[in-house]
Amino acid sequence: FTPLRDLAASKGIAFGFAVDPSRIRADVAYRDVVAKQANLLVPENALKWAEVHPDPDRYEFGPVDDLVAFARDHGQRTRGHTLCWHRAMPDWLGQVGRDRAEAVLTAHIRTVVGRYRGRMMSWDVVNEAIEPNDGLGGGLRDSFWYRMLGPRYLDIAYAAAHDADPQAVLCYNDYGLEADSPWSERKRGAVLDMLRGLRRRNVPVQAIGLQSHLRLGEAQRIGPGLTRFIHAARDMGLAVYVTELDVDDSAFDGRGDRDGAVADTYKRYLDLVLGTGAVSAVLTWGVWDPDTPHRIGATPQGAFAQRPLVFGREGALKPASWVVAHCL
Ligand code: XIL
Repeated sequence: FTPLRDLAASKGIAFGFAVDPSRIRADVAYRDVVAKQANLLVPENALKWAEVHPDPDRYEFGPVDDLVAFARDHGQRTRGHTLCWHRAMPDWLGQVGRDRAEAVLTAHIRTVVGRYRGRMMSWDVVNEAIEPNDGLGGGLRDSFWYRMLGPRYLDIAYAAAHDADPQAVLCYNDYGLEADSPWSERKRGAVLDMLRGLRRRNVPVQAIGLQSHLRLGEAQRIGPGLTRFIHAARDMGLAVYVTELDVDDSAFDGRGDRDGAVADTYKRYLDLVLGTGAVSAVLTWGVWDPDTPHRIGATPQGAFAQRPLVFGREGALKPASWVVAHCL
């Protein structure tokens, strides 16, 4: 089995995982799979506000410092996730009002991005800014940052990140952009409108992240809408990354083979997105299948996924491993 990082590198793209830095330290098998298979790593949670900035005057950089050192030792790049999101907010932010919000957001971004200047190849500056519920208009989500600062919170966040690390590729990351459904088509339209607006205002956004939390069989519903979206992003000069790929297999109907169905979803999706020639990084949201089924992605009410990832526990090969190797 040729390591996926080598297959990806031979095509000039990156492959990797969202990782838990403390598990890299504590679990030898996990560490070995991460070292062997990935050339790009992102901390799954360690850079979210609640983790990295738990108190107004305290940052917790240890885990990400370790991760960056590990990546350097293994010839891997790292990316940062995420600077501006409506979730994983520390309680203390609730005390921050409109008068201080811009200063607090800017200081956070300057501090966090500045610490890893030259080390993070890209940053998910803003995550999930689009309102997913059409009934609420489908524009910008009514998040904490939106309530505090209005739509210009995006401009503020990207400008601060660019100042702190001019080399890092600044990304907008979102979910639900993949399917050929009317809902996803509307969401793609809303994202493109937002990105065009940012570009018109010279906001330094340089990449789009397709989270790609897929559901079993969903790849059958993936097609021209996503291809058009990727081409539109590329035509705007944006890099395109697959940032959080996994396959929620909770809807498996028990007929046939669960792992085969998951593998098939990976294959159809990667064939399509890599076939555009515009995708330069693929990250899966986790290294190997969970010990206990877990809820996936942005739908916490969702069911439990059992074997959503590319590797089985302890890095065991499974059908999805072979399929992804073939696609890369
Ligand atoms: C998820 C993590 O995987 C969980 O461990 C955490 O409890 C909640 O966040 N979209 C994102 C990711 O951008 O940050 C989310 O990660 C999954 C959905």
